[in-house]
Amino acid sequence: MKVMIMGMDGYLGWTLGMYLADKGHEVSGIDNMLRRKMVAEIGSQSITPIKSMEERLDAYKKASGNDLTFYKGDLTESAFVNLAVKKEEPDCIVQLGQIPAAPYSMIDVEHCNFTQVNNIIGHNNILFAIKDNVPDCHLLKLGTMGEYGTPNLDIPEGFFEIEYRGRKDKLPFPRQPGSWYHLTKVHDTWNLMFANKIWGIRATDVMQGVVHGLNTPQMVNEDLLTRYDADEVFGTAINRFCAQAVVGHDLTPYGKGGQTRGYLALRDSMQCFTIAIENPPKEGEYRVFNQFDETYSVNDLAERVSKVAQEYGLEGKIWNIPNPRLEAEEHYYEPDMEHLPNLGFKPTNSLEDELHITIPKLMEYKDRIEAMRHTIDPKIKWTA
Ligand SMILES: NC(=O)c1ccc[n+]([C@@H]2O[C@H](COP(=O)([O-])OP(=O)(O)OC[C@H]3O[C@@H](n4cnc5c(N)ncnc54)[C@H](O)[C@@H]3O)[C@@H](O)[C@H]2O)c1
Repeated sequence: MKVMIMGMDGYLGWTLGMYLADKGHEVSGIDNMLRRKMVAEIGSQSITPIKSMEERLDAYKKASGNDLTFYKGDLTESAFVNLAVKKEEPDCIVQLGQIPAAPYSMIDVEHCNFTQVNNIIGHNNILFAIKDNVPDCHLLKLGTMGEYGTPNLDIPEGFFEIEYRGRKDKLPFPRQPGSWYHLTKVHDTWNLMFANKIWGIRATDVMQGVVHGLNTPQMVNEDLLTRYDADEVFGTAINRFCAQAVVGHDLTPYGKGGQTRGYLALRDSMQCFTIAIENPPKEGEYRVFNQFDETYSVNDLAERVSKVAQEYGLEGKIWNIPNPRLEAEEHYYEPDMEHLPNLGFKPTNSLEDELHITIPKLMEYKDRIEAMRHTIDPKIKWTA
């Protein structure tokens, strides 16, 4: 299959490019290297020493014999997106090319607007490029479980049956996003549903949990590693806890630590994407997949990281700190996940198994964590 990955230089995009090419797919991708610039802007760096795209492509070719085609350019430029899609004629486009960080969008008005323009316009350009060039192409769009927020109800996969004043309907489940970034993802969902309605674009809207780890069969040498960030802006709680443990920093859940989310290992995220790509939606179908292995509270995660870290002689002390975000710190959380298991998805490793791979890998880069350590503690606040 011809697959085009938007955001191919990113944490998921680079990993997915290699993963799909190894499975025999013909892979191309786009990136404008924005993530590298944003991480530099906040004075941080990837803990893994990632190579330039040119070096990555060469290293992967040497290791596997496979070619990946790369276009450097900005998804917010419609003519560029249109040209690249026209040239490649992909069967599937995976849209990962967005700013993924809630705290980045909360810095100030410039960062809020930049995130909204970048994410919403880039996504719309892809929708129009599909309609104009490859109307049969499957769009696999990365949303986030964060679109739903934390309702006091079970969370279905996209839609639910509702009875109101004696009448019934199947409607999109309410979205309750918790940042300007999460709002872009909700807006994408509405734009995608509308494009599906008027143009029949076949689409999978993936509500993905938090992805962690560095373990895929393709990362056989340092030149092929994907990025790994643990700063307050781009690092997720689990990444931060692992990095904190390695440098003897307290593990710092925000607030009461009852915030519960879905998590999945990088390798399982790749497995899910591959299943969705190889089992595309029917002509004209819009479907929603929730995607995660397990749900954990941040306190629970901190405890699991601490326990594994102690096996490597690290202290792993846990210290809850004031929450810079406005969010429920204790709540009900019961999301469904049936579509992917029905198509054959099985989690590969337990969380602990993955931590036994991630933590020793990060220990190799202790000096690089020390160099970005000052960016771990939260300074960006949700409230005025
Ligand atoms: N990593 C996770 O835990 C996770 C969880 C849920 C959802 N997601 C979603 O998955 C997607 C990818 O996440 P990631 O962790 O790989 O992020 P990432 O920042 O590592 O990757 C995104 C890539 O897109 C590129 N990009 C951004 N804007 C662009 C533009 N205008 N033109 C061209 N390239 C552009 C960036 O340079 C970057 O390389 C994001 O949309 C994110 O919201 C990620």
